[in-house]
Amino acid sequence: MESSVALDLAQLERLAVEVAVEAGRLITDDRPADVSAAATKSSPTDVVTIMDTRAEELIRARLLAARPDDSILGEEGDDHVGGSAITWVVDPIDGTVNYLYEIPAYAVSIAAVTGDPRVAGEWTVLAAAVGDPCRGRVYHARLGGGAHLSGTDGQVVSRLAVGGVPELGGALVGTGFGYTEQKRRSQGELLLEVIPHVRDIRRIGSAALDLCMVAAGQLDGFYEVGLNPWDLAGGWLVVTEAGGIVTGPRGGAPSAALTLAGNVAVHAALAAIVDR
Ligand code: IPD
Repeated sequence: MESSVALDLAQLERLAVEVAVEAGRLITDDRPADVSAAATKSSPTDVVTIMDTRAEELIRARLLAARPDDSILGEEGDDHVGGSAITWVVDPIDGTVNYLYEIPAYAVSIAAVTGDPRVAGEWTVLAAAVGDPCRGRVYHARLGGGAHLSGTDGQVVSRLAVGGVPELGGALVGTGFGYTEQKRRSQGELLLEVIPHVRDIRRIGSAALDLCMVAAGQLDGFYEVGLNPWDLAGGWLVVTEAGGIVTGPRGGAPSAALTLAGNVAVHAALAAIVDR
């Protein structure tokens, strides 16, 4: 029989899955004929659509209806401070530019964490779901409970396990780029150091999906500098529960300074290049 703590984690995971699936339906079914940028953030190409805002509102309402004392940290800033030890870290559409262009690679990421998700190294993900509405699938995990891929009905399709590629030369590695000129210059320089050593590079456009693809063995590694807590929280737990490793600078916790994921061998080889 599960302990009460494990039961709580299972409840958090189930709630994350339910809400990620519902928000995924909203952004696909209610997609306006003309999706345009309602606002911009760090640069003119860093956009927010009306559906980012609507999805975050829905997620916030559902989470607080189920757990009114929890806090919420959302990408679109609709934050809430509660009294419990749990904060929900939410990205209503991770891969907003893909969503804008109708490229089917965007996700809804919802993670229940303890600690302060605004401070690198000060938080732990307890349970998470990353919905992939274009495929009708949701990746999910809870601490110590393994990582799974389910359908939108909540039925588990498979247990996730990172791939077994033994060396960087055979590894398909995902990465991503930020929205500002300065970030892109340094990301481009880092990419120049990585690309000669790997099988190939993929820039899928959603860090949450990149991490889940590492968990599913569809990518062998992933790294990005500049991610926010909502981009990485859900995928971080999914990868570690699938047997992979996720670190940040100098092998510490992942953060805006670095998020690096892979199986043991690929992670170590990538770290030798990107975590120096
Ligand atoms: C972005 C995506 C992208 C990554 C960017 C993120 P958003 O999130 O995850 O893959 O390269 O750094 O900002 O803006 O689509 O939620």
